[in-house]
Amino acid sequence: MAIAVYPGSFDPFTYGHLDIAIRAAKMFETVHIVVVHNPAKKPRFTATQRLQMITEVLAGKPGNFVVSSFESGLLVDYCKSVSADALVKGVRTNMDLDYELPMAQVNRDLSGIETVFIPADPVHGFVSSSLVKQVADLGGDISKYVPDVVAKALRS
Ligand code: PNS
Repeated sequence: MAIAVYPGSFDPFTYGHLDIAIRAAKMFETVHIVVVHNPAKKPRFTATQRLQMITEVLAGKPGNFVVSSFESGLLVDYCKSVSADALVKGVRTNMDLDYELPMAQVNRDLSGIETVFIPADPVHGFVSSSLVKQVADLGGDISKYVPDVVAKALRS
C-alpha cells in the first residue's frame, strides 16, 4: 500500500471525481486530493471553496483522504513533499487520454513518478465540470452529476 496524489481543478467536484477518489482509496493507503490552480482555466469557485466542498463530500466515505490545494509550482514537487508513490487520473475518453498522456510522461521524466489511470465508470463517462456548470447556469437538473453540496453552491 502506498500514497497517491489525485490532482485536478475540481471546479467543481463531480460524482465522476468522487468515484475515482473512492476507487483510488481501495488501491492506496492515503489519497491526497489536491486542488491545483490551472492557469489555462478561469475557475468558478475559489480554491478554498473547492477544498471545503470536497472535504464535505468525502466525510464518511470509505478511504483515507487528505484534501489540500496548491496555487503554483510543479505537481511533481508537491508529490515529493507528501512522499507520493503515484499520481492518479481518471480517464473517460480518448480525448482525456490524449490530454493526460503527455502530462504523465513529463511528470515521470521530471521525477520518476508513475501515473495510474483509472477508467471512468461509464455512468459518469460524459460528466465534466464544465458541462455541469453549463447545465446549472441554464437551469437544468444537475443532481445526478454532482453531490448535493456542490449542486447547492452552483445554484446560489
Ligand atoms: O483538472 P485539470 O484542470 O485537467 O487538471 C490539470 C492539472 C491541474 C492536474 C495540471 O494542469 C497540472 O498538473 N498542473 C500543475 C503544474 C505542473 O506541474 N505542470 C507540468 C506537468 S503537467
